[in-house]
Amino acid sequence: MEATTWPLFDLRLTTPRLVLRPITDVDIPAFVAAAQSGIHDPARSPFSFPWTAVPDAELPANMAVHVWRTRAQTTAAQRTLPFGVWHEGELVGMQDLVAVEFATLRTVSTGSWLRQSVQGRGIGTEMRTAVVLYAFDHLGAEIAESEAASWNLASLGVSRGVGYLPNGTTRKSWGGSAQDVQLLRLDPDRLRRPAWTLGVEGHDGVASFLGLDAAVPVDS
Ligand SMILES: CC(C)(COP(=O)(O)OP(=O)(O)OC[C@H]1O[C@@H](n2cnc3c(N)ncnc32)[C@H](O)[C@@H]1OP(=O)(O)O)[C@@H](O)C(=O)NCCC(=O)NCCS
Repeated sequence: MEATTWPLFDLRLTTPRLVLRPITDVDIPAFVAAAQSGIHDPARSPFSFPWTAVPDAELPANMAVHVWRTRAQTTAAQRTLPFGVWHEGELVGMQDLVAVEFATLRTVSTGSWLRQSVQGRGIGTEMRTAVVLYAFDHLGAEIAESEAASWNLASLGVSRGVGYLPNGTTRKSWGGSAQDVQLLRLDPDRLRRPAWTLGVEGHDGVASFLGLDAAVPVDS
């Protein structure tokens, strides 16, 4: 599919070590391979919807459906930017940026995973920083929220490193069992801005497609 057909495909964020861009259909096999290589200890899912806990043979089609559904459901009211994360030329995970009723709430949330082989090297912090910078500086977001199972020290460590503050706990149904969940919240003043500058390409087409032109306070 051409980028001109789907403007989100033009979007590209770059950090010192990473390229983030929406996943295309051509990327799906590599996306599946990254997940199948292992994301977490199978005994405990870090995801509220335990999408990895299916037979290996079912995962490819499930992930493809997820990519297509997310793309098809990108509307003015519910926007998900599903960034694949490339490191040294390899697709190693994903970093979603989600906005619900953005025109009113100016709030984004995030979700992410990395293949285990690249975890614990600061990549999670770098990719979350990238999408939060994009949200605050280009989309005009005022708040970024996150949540993680209370035992998920890696995800909580990313949030802490980017500058989020704890914002209470809640109890959720987590793959069919009760789970204490830590909520987190970040505003632009608390964001730990990195020494590097985020590279952004393709934003104008995205802003126009998502109806953001009037909402973004660029240079104001
Ligand atoms: C969550 C995830 C994306 C974080 O990415 P990462 O690259 O592993 O994290 P980082 O290396 O940037 O580490 C961030 C911080 O957490 C700490 N941390 C990382 N892994 C940790 C662990 N297993 N236990 C304790 N602390 C940990 C790091 O020391 C770092 O803290 P610091 O900045 O104070 O040194 C990644 O671990 C992952 O994909 N996990 C499985 C899926 C998942 O949990 N997704 C999130 C669901 S909410």
